[in-house]
Amino acid sequence: MSWIAVDDSFSRVYSMRFISKLKYLCYAASLLLIFVATSISFIRFLPGENIQLYQHVRPRKQLVIFLLTSTKTLPTRGRDVSLTWGRRAKDYRELGSIVSPVDVVFSESADTSEYGISHLPVPDVSYDDLYKKTFSTFHYLYKHHLNDYEWFMKADDDTFIKIRSLLALLNNPSINASEPLLLGRKGGSWCWGGPGYILNRRMLSLMGPYLPYCKKNKRFHGEEDVMFGECMKYALSQALPDYQNPGCQAIPGGNGHEFLALGHNDVLWEHFNEPQYTFSIPYSDSSEWSFDKAIALHTVRGSMMYQLNYLYE
Ligand SMILES: *[C@@H]1O[C@H](CO)[C@@H](O)[C@H](O)[C@H]1NC(C)=O
Repeated sequence: MSWIAVDDSFSRVYSMRFISKLKYLCYAASLLLIFVATSISFIRFLPGENIQLYQHVRPRKQLVIFLLTSTKTLPTRGRDVSLTWGRRAKDYRELGSIVSPVDVVFSESADTSEYGISHLPVPDVSYDDLYKKTFSTFHYLYKHHLNDYEWFMKADDDTFIKIRSLLALLNNPSINASEPLLLGRKGGSWCWGGPGYILNRRMLSLMGPYLPYCKKNKRFHGEEDVMFGECMKYALSQALPDYQNPGCQAIPGGNGHEFLALGHNDVLWEHFNEPQYTFSIPYSDSSEWSFDKAIALHTVRGSMMYQLNYLYE
């Protein structure tokens, strides 16, 4: 029987050694885990380039606004935006956040770094072919940034946008993100192009696959805003045949007068510094328009951009 006892004590000693080794292994593993966790959370909060590298930990932003600019108007209107509400958008911070919830980008293939605003590589077109640029840009955003934003807005480079008010409206928790939404000033099924229009992620995900077709097909060649509405109608009829498409809608919970379109020489601009002054505008039954209620204003040129930026945020 003695050989069994010897063997037993041998195995006990052996297993005790194993357990003490295991203990060190556990210490080492814990240290490694702590190190990795710390590095990940540190990398996550590095600014700029590094956030691009770690896309999987980058939180989704609320809104991207692309400006339908051109090589010709970039040094004037593009620069004016970059020095006014474009800069305000870049510097905007919500409490406890170190990045802006909104990105403003130029829809322009030329390098725009001197304006401090990045650009999307979509080809330049003539003014008559503007619709093509809108289709291309939304398609680019669909392909590369669909999951980076909740909202996707098109604006012109002579549009003034009150960033803070817009973000507050789009944050409305009663908006159902599962519904495809096209928001703006209602024309027909289309939204007026000048003061801009906004798609939610659901709408872009449904329209995305049809955008190259719309760009190529003559049926969608014409006025940029009307054609975008037509393409939206077509895409939804294909993607969701049973859906009752309401077309362009006002911002839910808004005042219904957010998207103001005036000619750049309109005498009403004289009242820009009287926020409560109410007036009527062409192609609208309402006489309740005001600079206070407006959130996206068009057509804004030259010094008016700076004057609005001084008065409104
Ligand atoms: C949101 O929209 C989806 C799609 O239309 C619908 O199925 C769902 O019931 C809606 N949710 C609410 C809370 O209304």
